[in-house]
Amino acid sequence: MRDSNNVRQSIASVFAWLCWLMCSSPSTAEDFKYRQAESDKAMVATGHALATDTAVRVLEAGGNAVDAALSAVLTLGVVDGYNSGIGGGCFILIRTPSGEFHAIDGREMASRHATPKMYYQDGSVNTRLSKTGPLASGVPGAVSAYATAAQLCGQLPWNQLFQDAIRHAQEGFTIDEGYALKLQSKARQLKKYAGSRDVYFNADGKPWRSGDRLVQADLARTLAGIAKEGADFFYRGPTATAISAWMQANGGMLDREDFASYAARLRVPVLSRYRGYEIVGFPPPSSGGVHIAQILNTLEAFDLGSVYQQSSVDYVHLVTEALKLAFADRAYWLGDPEFAEVPPGLVDTSYGKKLAEQISIEKVSPVLSHGTPAVTSTDRFDRHTTHVAVADSEGYWVALTATINTWFGSKVVVPGTGVLLNNEMDDFSISPGVPNAFGLVGSKANQVEAKKRPLSSMSPTIVLQDGRPVFSLGAAGGPRIISSVLLAISRIIDLDMTPYDAIALPRFHHQWSPDFLYLEKSAAAVLRQGLETKGHQIRELSSAGVAQMIFRDPLTGIFTGIYDPRINGKASGPVRSP
Ligand code: GLY
Repeated sequence: MRDSNNVRQSIASVFAWLCWLMCSSPSTAEDFKYRQAESDKAMVATGHALATDTAVRVLEAGGNAVDAALSAVLTLGVVDGYNSGIGGGCFILIRTPSGEFHAIDGREMASRHATPKMYYQDGSVNTRLSKTGPLASGVPGAVSAYATAAQLCGQLPWNQLFQDAIRHAQEGFTIDEGYALKLQSKARQLKKYAGSRDVYFNADGKPWRSGDRLVQADLARTLAGIAKEGADFFYRGPTATAISAWMQANGGMLDREDFASYAARLRVPVLSRYRGYEIVGFPPPSSGGVHIAQILNTLEAFDLGSVYQQSSVDYVHLVTEALKLAFADRAYWLGDPEFAEVPPGLVDTSYGKKLAEQISIEKVSPVLSHGTPAVTSTDRFDRHTTHVAVADSEGYWVALTATINTWFGSKVVVPGTGVLLNNEMDDFSISPGVPNAFGLVGSKANQVEAKKRPLSSMSPTIVLQDGRPVFSLGAAGGPRIISSVLLAISRIIDLDMTPYDAIALPRFHHQWSPDFLYLEKSAAAVLRQGLETKGHQIRELSSAGVAQMIFRDPLTGIFTGIYDPRINGKASGPVRSP
């Protein structure tokens, strides 16, 4: 963990890069200085420069971190709309200056007409239906969650938060290479829907290209309506009417009553401790908070700092084995807490110790099925995604992860609204043993049911020391969110890495099924060989998640914001005091 001992930290950092970088991209190290920012006033880190600029403007106009985070995510929904937007959902974790936490669940909800068999046709499951088109979407929860956060903690008027988002939608913004490539890759599916054709294709019927200006006039009008009239404009007004009319005409299920009955929920955060730090995670229907706590409890049995000094292979192996055990539990136990009994024992330290006993440092241990924690009876808990991190010197910390699920969600922009709908229904287990877009399997706990929220991996997290926040983080990348967040926590606390190293260095991921250890391509070949010797089946990944983090030096109070070098994001804060 970073502290006043800069020499110790520098040595740890050099060691970290040596261990990991023997074969990883040197540009990551060179880019370091451009990818983090410092301020003593407040800090913002997001996946898009326009969103970060919006948030900094809001802070400079007197808004707090909550106002800034909401304005940033609204802008992201316009300029980075293939990842998140008002047609999707989010989890917002807020820490207030008095030390209170709010966990706002804006996860999508299945239609009241949804059934466990809704994706079956002629006796077998059609996996396309939960990914694309009218049956792929749940009721979007984002607007309700934003309104809840603003009501609880916002300082600025609600409509002020929308100004930049509306302007970018109305006047347009320039599409970059990354946006254009994603659009190109999904063009065939987007082209099927008239509303999507109107937005994403030019007059010649070609998808917009890098350098083109994307104007979203309908979306600007919908945002302006919500800014003026509040969330009811979306859930009880013209947006709900237009979406339910489109659904009715196109074989979908969502109707006006589904929208009218939606409300973001306030959940109780998952609190755990790791080597003296307090970890505040997001509870179900996120699986992130539970499993990050569970994995850290498991890893606490090992002296990971010393293990890593001896062998980075052993470190990766131990973390991988803990990930595997947790993901086996995820597949069995986790679901919407209002439908599934998520055992509180999953985050008990005694269960973590029991799991640790199943791990051998020598070789891979097979995990055939989920474990059973001691306490299973009561329900304590009540890629393609984006994470916004904001903190201010007043004491507000916001970790907000938002998504429409896979790129361009269901691929449906509902005509007249500009709203690109999510395909979050695919995060349910649509049939036992049938993997979703991320290869995840599930059980009854996460089967489709009317008005249920699909399980998520989004893991907005805040870490405290002696009650004071020291860093917050979250990530995009489906199940790799969990490993990205977990690794950053372990790298800072166990390996003494700098926050930048914790995010930038090559990552790995294991989700139990399929039984592969995913390793970023940039990781060292010797690491790969060492892991293969222990029995891991390795698969290469170009990117194992995208994370944003804010760190506050406990001694100086200076905020550092870091965005993931795997994307073109931006970290920035108001100008530092002289
Ligand atoms: N849609 C990805 C997740 O929520 O985990």
